[in-house]
Amino acid sequence: MAEGLKVLDAVLGDDVSVETTEYDLGARRWHATGETLPDEVLEELKGHDAILLGAIGDPSVPSGVLERGLLLKLRFAFDHHVNLRPSKLFPGVESPLAGKPEIDFVVVREGTEGPYVGNGGSLRTGTPHEVATEVSLNTAFGIERVVRDAYARAQARPRRKLTLVHKNNVLVHAGHLWKNIFDKVGEEFPEVTTDYLHVDAATIFFVTQPERFDVIVTDNLFGDILTDLAAAVTGGIGLAASGNINPGGQFPSMFEPVHGSAPDIAGTGKADPTATVLSVAMLLRHLGFDAEAARVEAAVSADLAERADTQSTRTTSQTGDALAARVSG
Ligand code: IPM
Ligand code: MN
Repeated sequence: MAEGLKVLDAVLGDDVSVETTEYDLGARRWHATGETLPDEVLEELKGHDAILLGAIGDPSVPSGVLERGLLLKLRFAFDHHVNLRPSKLFPGVESPLAGKPEIDFVVVREGTEGPYVGNGGSLRTGTPHEVATEVSLNTAFGIERVVRDAYARAQARPRRKLTLVHKNNVLVHAGHLWKNIFDKVGEEFPEVTTDYLHVDAATIFFVTQPERFDVIVTDNLFGDILTDLAAAVTGGIGLAASGNINPGGQFPSMFEPVHGSAPDIAGTGKADPTATVLSVAMLLRHLGFDAEAARVEAAVSADLAERADTQSTRTTSQTGDALAARVSG
């Protein structure tokens, strides 16, 4: 987070001053207070233009507490229905895929529905006949708004291609709702070429033919899984940025690295801050600072091209310094 803010300050220079409020949320706070995201904090956050979220989580906190109580609470409370996850293989970055694949696509992951809504329960807990349900919620309203957003993004890109990923051969109810809406909204975007893939097939093409993708739209859970795979084939999760967008601007959008907090290396100064820095670029673009966003991305691209031999010895703050120097110079 420190490196992300360093680069933000450096790229904005003296022309724009940023007022930041820091909130110490996450595992440490939960241990100290038992709180994840107090209502006052949620209220205060509404007064900000954007949120930059550091990776959270620690094995000492029971699974789900911070995920549901902090991260998902923010996404749901601020109606972050467009979870934007670009995947680009930067020059000089090694992909585990054979050859030199062209990878430059963006996953538009639905962010407020699907199995993430917490619509489920357990019966006969602790007995051999225990039953657990986790019902995926899909509304025409929720699907249509994210699908329309994805079409608009595809329309604005040179290749103008949009792929819907679902599993409508098995999840026939939700799958057909998605497909019907996808086809209907597509009539408004005649210039966009469309494609449909079942999610299992999509994982094959992520590895064998990633160049076939331009914009992908998919539900919350498929998007979660696919974007980790997308990160793995574009240099690793340490480079993957994301934006949780509230397109109407009623609530602040939130930008965060896709990765977790890597508690095994916490405090060692080894973590790569690049995903956070790229998330800062997304934040800048969201707020209309397009030129600054492009400068941050160019700095990351140049740094990645040169870093192959130095990264092993560089600390987190040295990488931040290198990127800050590039954007200001
Ligand atoms: C992500 C994460 C979260 C998700 C978890 C931590 C709740 O994996 O941002 O991809 O599943 O969305
Ligand atoms: Mn994830």
